[in-house]
Amino acid sequence: MKILTSPSLFAADLLNIEKEVKRTEEAGADTIHFDIMDGVYVPNISIGFEILAAVRSITDLPIDAHMMTVKPEKYIERLANAGADIITVHNDIACEDDIRAMLDEIHNYGLMAAIALKPRVPAEAVLPFLDLCDMILVMTVEPGFSGQSFMDMSDKIKTIKGYIGDRNISIQVDGGINPETASICAAAGANVFVVGSAAYRAESMKDTLDAVKSSAEKAYNA
Ligand code: DX5
Ligand code: ZN
Repeated sequence: MKILTSPSLFAADLLNIEKEVKRTEEAGADTIHFDIMDGVYVPNISIGFEILAAVRSITDLPIDAHMMTVKPEKYIERLANAGADIITVHNDIACEDDIRAMLDEIHNYGLMAAIALKPRVPAEAVLPFLDLCDMILVMTVEPGFSGQSFMDMSDKIKTIKGYIGDRNISIQVDGGINPETASICAAAGANVFVVGSAAYRAESMKDTLDAVKSSAEKAYNA
């Protein structure tokens, strides 16, 4: 699988989103990770549909909407209209059948669908969704805030990689990712790297993303 970087805009300077999106493009990001929180599923509230649409209007980079909300099914159409390319829902917000219906609906809008697992959710949780998702997000922090310390989920990533087998499904990691932690996750089989504070607080975002990519490529292919 291709190694991709996905800066998490929530960690950017939100007073200057337009500049930050341009900086993200210039740094060579592959996609933009867009965190949507509702204050219910996670104890924080972040950025929403209007901002996503505004970001869409100034960039061609794919936008990955990470839904940290209850009832994300209510918002799939709005996300599609706002210009999201990928929608990620957490596995524990509904029963298996309802999650399958959501992933299906996301695909019906022509978007990519992903399932996310919090740190405490075991790898087996992805099994019912392997035929319906393009990406699996293994959270490496408790969702809700940027700038938290990385939790090593290598065993879970390896197990999921084994379940995926030959399928064309990416493994994304999100939380505390920098060149060192990206390498740990890539060695286990992750290929998409969400980078929040490490990217936006770096002196050179390009150097950081380049370093994430090269350390991940080395570890992934070792
Ligand atoms: C946390 C969010 C992340 C966060 C990542 O709940 O899902 O995307 O912004 O930020 P860092 O890389 O700083 O942990
Ligand atoms: Zn996220």
